[in-house]
Amino acid sequence: MKSIIIMASGSGSNAENIVKYFQGNKNVQVTAIFSNKKDAKVLERASKLGISAYYFNKTAFLGGQIVELFKALNPDLIVLAGFLWKVPTDLVEAFDSKIINIHPALLPKYGGKGMFGMNVHKAVKENRETESGISIHFVNENYDKGNMIFQAKTEVLDTDTPDHIAQKVHALEYEHFPQIIEKLLNGKI
Ligand code: GAR
Repeated sequence: MKSIIIMASGSGSNAENIVKYFQGNKNVQVTAIFSNKKDAKVLERASKLGISAYYFNKTAFLGGQIVELFKALNPDLIVLAGFLWKVPTDLVEAFDSKIINIHPALLPKYGGKGMFGMNVHKAVKENRETESGISIHFVNENYDKGNMIFQAKTEVLDTDTPDHIAQKVHALEYEHFPQIIEKLLNGKI
């Protein structure tokens, strides 16, 4: 059985989508969801889905406790699904090529510190981009800079608001993220 740990900071609609995708799968299970926000909606979603969920603070994240805990859980993949803290070097090194992130834009555009969620879609709109999309990549010590695994595009119309762009990007995330996770776990990527 392959196991996944999900890390999320906010709503967790991607986390929920991933959990549902693998429900009933005999080869893959989501072991736990970890959040750095005590009141994040993702924790509520996890409890409704019957998935173990944990809150952790910055001290645990930067002080090595999370690395030790994850080593004990021994996941095959750590999936950042709307997780907004930079991942420390000890975690990256302990899980080399086993941590992936989804970013709501076509990296290298609109990446880096402060570029998350609606901030990204507002910037895409302000710059009158004609397309946006999703980027799924390995995580290294630098924000949004790890090796690219997969990208998908969506058209941005003149009439699209940042909310519309967010909806289109979320649709791409729901469609592709679980499939890419499955392919990675099965060695097909
Ligand atoms: C997703 O769109 C994800 O790509 C983005 O946060 C959103 C989380 O939505 N991640 C980043 O911006 C990372 N820099 P969700 O909580 O509903 O899954």
